[in-house]
Amino acid sequence: MSQPRGEIEKRGLWSSGLMFILAAAGSAIGLGNVWRFPYITGTYGGGAFVIFYLGCVLVVGYPLLVTEVVIGRSARKNPVGAFKTLSRENKFWTLVGFLGILSGFVILSYYSVIAGWTLDYFVKFVTNDFAGKGRDEIISAFNQMISDPARQLTWHSIFMGATIGIVIFGIKEGLERWIEILMPLLFLSLLILLVYGLVRGDAVGALRFLFEPDWKKLVLTKSGEFTPRPMMEAMGQAFFSLSLGMGAMITYGSYLGDEVRISRASAMIVFLDTLIALVAGIAIYTILFANKLAPAQGPGLTFKVLPLAFVQMGGVGRVLAICFFLLLAFAALTSAISLLEVVTAFFIDDLKLSRRWATLLGGVGIYLLGIFSALSYNLLKGVHIFRDKDGNPMPVLDSLDLLATNYLLPIGGFFIAFFLGWFMDKVEKKRQFLEGKGSERLYKIWHFLIRYITPVLVFILLVFEIDKHLGLGIFE
Ligand code: TRP
Repeated sequence: MSQPRGEIEKRGLWSSGLMFILAAAGSAIGLGNVWRFPYITGTYGGGAFVIFYLGCVLVVGYPLLVTEVVIGRSARKNPVGAFKTLSRENKFWTLVGFLGILSGFVILSYYSVIAGWTLDYFVKFVTNDFAGKGRDEIISAFNQMISDPARQLTWHSIFMGATIGIVIFGIKEGLERWIEILMPLLFLSLLILLVYGLVRGDAVGALRFLFEPDWKKLVLTKSGEFTPRPMMEAMGQAFFSLSLGMGAMITYGSYLGDEVRISRASAMIVFLDTLIALVAGIAIYTILFANKLAPAQGPGLTFKVLPLAFVQMGGVGRVLAICFFLLLAFAALTSAISLLEVVTAFFIDDLKLSRRWATLLGGVGIYLLGIFSALSYNLLKGVHIFRDKDGNPMPVLDSLDLLATNYLLPIGGFFIAFFLGWFMDKVEKKRQFLEGKGSERLYKIWHFLIRYITPVLVFILLVFEIDKHLGLGIFE
């Protein structure tokens, strides 16, 4: 499997192990932590959901992250190419790689729209839109924003344009420069919000909501029937937040130097990602409860609640808000880059296109699909695809998000785990894991999880979810 160093370098390599951690953390940390985690936690009732989520991160997320990086570094290819090579051109496994490309396509299409919201809020604070406004006006600004089709389309175009532009310039030049500086600043601004929230907001209310489990909420609908949806959502969130299940980390691993210990680098990424989600969650809920709002605000949660704090802070708050939304847009950009990079790497390796044409082809396709999401709360308001756990119809953007996180990513993750556990060359996977002084014992634990536990858990939840919510009714 080892290729000559020169060939590997020509394809592109991270300048160091730390750079890989930063780039992978840059992919993982994004809207998933600050927008998605707080809002679905609210939708599914807090406590039990959060604890189950943390369990998923440990038992499914971490092992799978290691797996993707091992596969990527071993094959030094995009997901499709990696599966093709490692399975010796087996058609089925090549198809799994394609599934990853499809997930990237779907996710980036609506991710770009949400990222547009952060840009819109950035501008709102620059132009001092919220000056002198009260709670209800600040909250309703969100609905006004999403019901304006032209505004939604404009931001979507700007964000996708920026993503495409950066990916065209290649992996190193495009990414490494900024991540080091801006990610710590995002973390800093979240910490300021956290401290503000804990001191001025309802700290007790937030912590109780987020960590006090009411297990019924994890398994029952409003009317008291069993539903696997909250558990599936928690697992899906672990996939989404850690950028797993579609080969983004396979692609990033493919640029990783041979000397890096994968288990340690992955642990760092999981730790940072989870920390940021929790900090964002706690900050948001302290402010939410202090303002006597309900947790189930839907996808607008972050955008409704954080401005309340910024406005209440006065002049400093405005400056902080401007920095915060800009940094969040940047975090979203580094995640978006990783999504587009997967699609691009595939077109480059397999269709033999140049980077420029590969990126344009993928980027424009994703942009076009994203138009449906940009219009989903205005012109396409009446269009629904899936239903939520209580049977209410969901708009296009929410449905695409559900399709990707509850189905595409877990299905992809299941096969990735299954492949490494049962099909990949034993000597090679062990060599990859132990490289850079990896521990033999940890290898055994990881390999056991990825063979018997991770894929089985994912499979069971998937079967329940598909049965219940796609209406097969096998278990009724
Ligand atoms: N993890 C990113 C976030 O939390 C989103 C993301 C980037 C992603 N690349 C991905 C999700 C690949 C799934 C797969 O915002």
